Amino acid sequence: MKKKKKMRVVIVAGARPNLMKASPLIEAARRHKEIEYYLVYTGQHYHRLMSKVFWKDLRLPAPYTDLGAGSASHAVQTARVMVGFEKVCLRLRPDIIMVVGDVNSTLAAALVGAKLGIKVAHVEAGLRSFDRAMPEEINRILTDHLSDYLFVTEESALKNLKKEGIDRRKIYYTGNVMIDTLARFRKKAKNSGILKRLGLERQKIKYALLTLHRPSNVDDKLTFKRLIAALSRLSKRITIIFPVHPRTQKLLKEFGFQINKNRINCIDPLSYIDFIKLMSQAQFVLTDSGGIQEESTFLGVPCLTIRKNTERPVTIKEGTNKLVGSSADKIIREAGKILNSKIKIKKRRLPKFWDARAAERIMNVIASPLGARNDDGIRRQ
Ligand code: UD1
Repeated sequence: MKKKKKMRVVIVAGARPNLMKASPLIEAARRHKEIEYYLVYTGQHYHRLMSKVFWKDLRLPAPYTDLGAGSASHAVQTARVMVGFEKVCLRLRPDIIMVVGDVNSTLAAALVGAKLGIKVAHVEAGLRSFDRAMPEEINRILTDHLSDYLFVTEESALKNLKKEGIDRRKIYYTGNVMIDTLARFRKKAKNSGILKRLGLERQKIKYALLTLHRPSNVDDKLTFKRLIAALSRLSKRITIIFPVHPRTQKLLKEFGFQINKNRINCIDPLSYIDFIKLMSQAQFVLTDSGGIQEESTFLGVPCLTIRKNTERPVTIKEGTNKLVGSSADKIIREAGKILNSKIKIKKRRLPKFWDARAAERIMNVIASPLGARNDDGIRRQ
């Protein structure tokens, strides 16, 4: 009997948050004998602490190839990924290219796929901040419009895609793969020694966890300066732990800013397991990241988002998130409310399908000969 041809899926990851999303997709693909998968790393993030350390933590297989794209302007970085990835696609001839999130590598790989006539699947489709000054918003819109399969994490994404006229038959509400990963590694994170290493455990020191890397917050000298001043004020009330993103590190140096290290503990970027432990024990999180808004909602930790908008409104509606912009007064006021316990976290209600089975649903859709299954309420038409 003739052997059935396997479905060849290339999963693309390029930057740190992509790795958390690729991990459960690979796990789920492994369980499908009709799927043959390849992980392609673009090398957008190349710093050991932004890439290599995650391989072990997330039990990722060695990538089929690393395109070594590295840092550059948007055009150059996107083009480098495209040139490298096109060669890979011509060699592998995949049936499906699966891209995750909204980084430059996501758009670059989707463009290559669409031009070669290969089906593109976008995991985490439909999110919109409605702010085109964000490079990620451009990446999100274009990737969605190039995709044949759009896998969404929340209700708002469905609405956005419908409004943009995307064929409903392409859209699947499958849940959040980032949460799959969090649920899977949460237990392991409990054993992380990070609190001890930072000297937070013995005296049971209360702390807030800070991350900052958006161009809108750190690229502009004045905005960044104002933020540092606000955080310094806040640090008089609570210890702040700040794992510094390489982009932020570079700008701190360039602008010649000094952070009072007695109050704000600036540390290197952390491994996934250590970061999850630190987040789960924090009094609250201050961030401009997308994924952390979702992770803190899942963990039930209050999150103050240092942005004017969010593409993940479910974290506000059903989760623990609040937008505070970059105004010093608002940051301090809202943090103060948490510290004075004026904000009680509502009984935790997790958004639909944030149940650690998103990747499984996605791979079921991909593996199905009709490209869809209705049995789990996945397809929305
Ligand atoms: C990228 C994504 C952003 C995501 C973030 C997660 C885009 C447009 N941006 O932002 O959506 O939230 O990743 O971390 O795709 N750098 C290093 N080492 C590295 C990587 C970066 O030093 O391994 C420094 C370089 O100076 C580089 C700068 O960070 O120029 C920016 O890197 P880049 O990949 O362009 O964007 P991120 O800010 O990391």
